[in-house]
Amino acid sequence: MKLFLDTANINEIREIAAWGILDGVTTNPSLMAREKGDYRTILKEICTVVKGPVSAEVMDLDESGMMREARDLSTVSEHIVIKIPCTAAGLVATKSLVGDGIRVNMTLVFSPNQALLAAKAGATYVSPFVGRLDDAGNPGVPIVKEIIDIYRTFEFKTRIIFASVRHPEHVRQAALIGSHIATIPYKIFTQLIRHPLTDIGIERFIKDWQNR
Ligand code: E4P
Repeated sequence: MKLFLDTANINEIREIAAWGILDGVTTNPSLMAREKGDYRTILKEICTVVKGPVSAEVMDLDESGMMREARDLSTVSEHIVIKIPCTAAGLVATKSLVGDGIRVNMTLVFSPNQALLAAKAGATYVSPFVGRLDDAGNPGVPIVKEIIDIYRTFEFKTRIIFASVRHPEHVRQAALIGSHIATIPYKIFTQLIRHPLTDIGIERFIKDWQNR
C-alpha cells in the first residue's frame, strides 16, 4: 500500500519524506488555508521535496473554471495531480483533463456509485472520505471495501486513496482491505512508528549493555 501525507505544511512533509517511505502528498483548500504564502509557491516547494504525486485542489465549481484552474496548476510541476470534487461538472472536467494527459484525483467521494462514475470518467485516483463517513454514523471502511470490489470486477485502473484518516486503526484497516493508498495526517503518521514495547525494549537493551 502506498502512503501519502495529508498536509500542506512543508516542515511536516520534509520530516516524513526523510523517513524514505513517503509516496506522495494530498492537499485541500482547508489545509492550504493554514499555510502562509501563495498557492503556487507552496505547491512548488512541496514538489521539490516529494518525488511522487502531489494533489492540488481546484476551487472553481463550474467545469470551465475547473479546467482553467487545473491547466494552470498542472504547470507548477510534473508531480501535480488535480483534485476535482465529485459533481456532474467535475466528471465533465475530469474526462477532458484526463484526455489531455492531466492526472485527476476525484475527491469528496462518499459512495460506491460516486466512485463508479469517477472511474468511468477516467480519474487516476478516487478519494473516499472514510473519517467523515464515520463521523456521520455511516461506517466508511465497508464503503471503501465495496469500491475495491467494484473496481476489481470491472478492472478499472483508478487507484483508491483511503482518505480522511482519523487514527492509526484506519491505516491498518486500509491495508487489510487492500486499499491502494492511504493519505494520512502528520500526527497519525508519526503515531504509526511508535509502540510502547519498542521504547521499553530499547531502554532494557541499553541498560543491560551498560551493566555488562
Ligand atoms: C484527502 O485528500 C483530504 O484532504 C482529507 O483526507 C480530508 O480529511 P478530513 O476529513 O480530516 O478533512
